[in-house]
Amino acid sequence: MVPFLVAGCGTADGDVVNVYSHRHYDTDQALFDRFEEETGVRVRVVSAPADELIARLQREGPASPADLLITVDAGRLHRARELGLLQSIGEEPVYRTVPQRFRDPEGTWVALTRRARILAYAIDRVDPTELSTYEALTDPKWEGRLLVRSSENIYNVSHLASIVAALGEAEAEHWAAGVVQNLARSPQGNDTDQIRDVAAGVGDVALVNTYYVGRLLNAEDEASRALASRVGVFFPNADDRGAHVNISGAGITRHAPNRDNALLLLEFLLGQEAQSAFAEANFEYPVRDGVAWAPTLEGWGEFREDALPLYRLGELNNAAVRIFDRVGWR
Ligand SMILES: [Fe+2]
Repeated sequence: MVPFLVAGCGTADGDVVNVYSHRHYDTDQALFDRFEEETGVRVRVVSAPADELIARLQREGPASPADLLITVDAGRLHRARELGLLQSIGEEPVYRTVPQRFRDPEGTWVALTRRARILAYAIDRVDPTELSTYEALTDPKWEGRLLVRSSENIYNVSHLASIVAALGEAEAEHWAAGVVQNLARSPQGNDTDQIRDVAAGVGDVALVNTYYVGRLLNAEDEASRALASRVGVFFPNADDRGAHVNISGAGITRHAPNRDNALLLLEFLLGQEAQSAFAEANFEYPVRDGVAWAPTLEGWGEFREDALPLYRLGELNNAAVRIFDRVGWR
């Protein structure tokens, strides 16, 4: 007697959930395996940058196999919603488990994890008392000392969008121009490269996401750990709006063929086990309260977060892109 198998074969696909994900972390597969084990629902993942996944969803239309879109930025979820690619989950209990500013007011997406954009500095060349705000990085004392990645990167676009929200477009442009003025080299590489270049002495202060430092500090190879130990983490704007925080998040696609399974997976990813795994294994901050932080995150301590509702990063995306163009932050 195999009643489960018979029941499980009721649909053409079996019991699956199709995930389009821009997350690029090994830890996610372990979580999906755990979900399969727990629920019997198979997770099929298509990995690509969010812009590609969004274009694919548009192309596929109602025939899309995708159930859940996962991005590493609130701005891209906002764009997917604007394009009508997501459906509302505002009535589902899981939507309310996420603090308000970390979810779409229209009910189409929720955050899964948080990450702060911090200043990674050379501990032998920079005294943390010299650091204060993102804005202070335009001071001439930092000339030839700053490291950033390309403006095409969504982390930078959303960060600048948050500065537009805080200070207005003119001040934000002034800031971006001032950063370009102080660069140690032209923008290049990923966040990990910026940290490596701080350690190597190419520059003294880099703008990066917290979890990249966490991963290097806890890397298996000793060289990475040694390198990370030469870099300090500073949370800027502690005395005013707080450090810029972005999210990795998810929304159920408009035509999700396996909506119930997508919802089940969302609930799992926002559950205690997955939330602490995001922190323990990838050094992201949980999005739910009451979840323990990894020791590395504990070590950095509590910090003030910019309280900007994250959908605003999406609304101000285009303004930020135009500013980067105008100031020549390539
Ligand atoms: Fe990343």
